Amino acid sequence: MPPESPVLTLDGPSGAGKGAVGQICAVRLGWHYLDSGAVYRALAHVLEKKSINIRSLDDVLKAAHEMNFECHPNPPEPARIIINGESAGAELRSEAAGEIASELAREPRIRSVLLGLQRNASRPPGLVTDGRDMGTVVFPQAVLKIFLTASPEERAHRRYNQLKLKGFDVSLAGLFQAIQERDTRDAERNASPLKAAADAVLVDSTDLTIEEVVTRVLNLLRTRLEIAGIDTVEQESGLT
Ligand code: DC
Repeated sequence: MPPESPVLTLDGPSGAGKGAVGQICAVRLGWHYLDSGAVYRALAHVLEKKSINIRSLDDVLKAAHEMNFECHPNPPEPARIIINGESAGAELRSEAAGEIASELAREPRIRSVLLGLQRNASRPPGLVTDGRDMGTVVFPQAVLKIFLTASPEERAHRRYNQLKLKGFDVSLAGLFQAIQERDTRDAERNASPLKAAADAVLVDSTDLTIEEVVTRVLNLLRTRLEIAGIDTVEQESGLT
């Protein structure tokens, strides 16, 4: 068996900055990038397109099995997502899609179908991935696991600015409440709840810029790769 290629995982609640940080890290490293939240959002999108009721588990599982998913980093925009050969639009990032994704994500059988798809994203020279259970369940062997948080107020603010820029009509109070409800649902579900891996490094981004978080993460990664004796050409361009 060839040695596994290195994986950097970023887990944490919605709005902590995982996507922004993860994509920049991936581009600097020349590594692949997987936005695992987009996998659940993509399934929500497919179900809507095929008019499949999210309660019809057999149909949902079939759609999940058949789903073809590609993710390409595109900072500072969200990653470019291609679902079953078609480029997904801004609707994938709506609060409504996030809510359905969070509902689907509670079902262990759906999670287990989507596990293979996520693990397949790990290819040389390396993978940067973000989500809720990337370090705990999907890539427990990751060379570095980050748990990225920020206060709920700060996350609501960031989400508000993002959605406003995209032309969505949202209220800060509504987003704050939705963020708290989604945090609770993601943290309290039985299947792969949102929690830091025992060996994760905690980073609170409340008072940090994206660039400061990226620098911290890449410094930690450099040390871990050195300790693990992993040396890649891409590592040079991103980490020096
Ligand atoms: O990160 P996001 O907001 O795009 O994720 C959408 C939902 O998908 C989130 O509420 C929970 C779920 N999710 C998950 O259960 N596991 C992951 N690894 C990523 C996302």
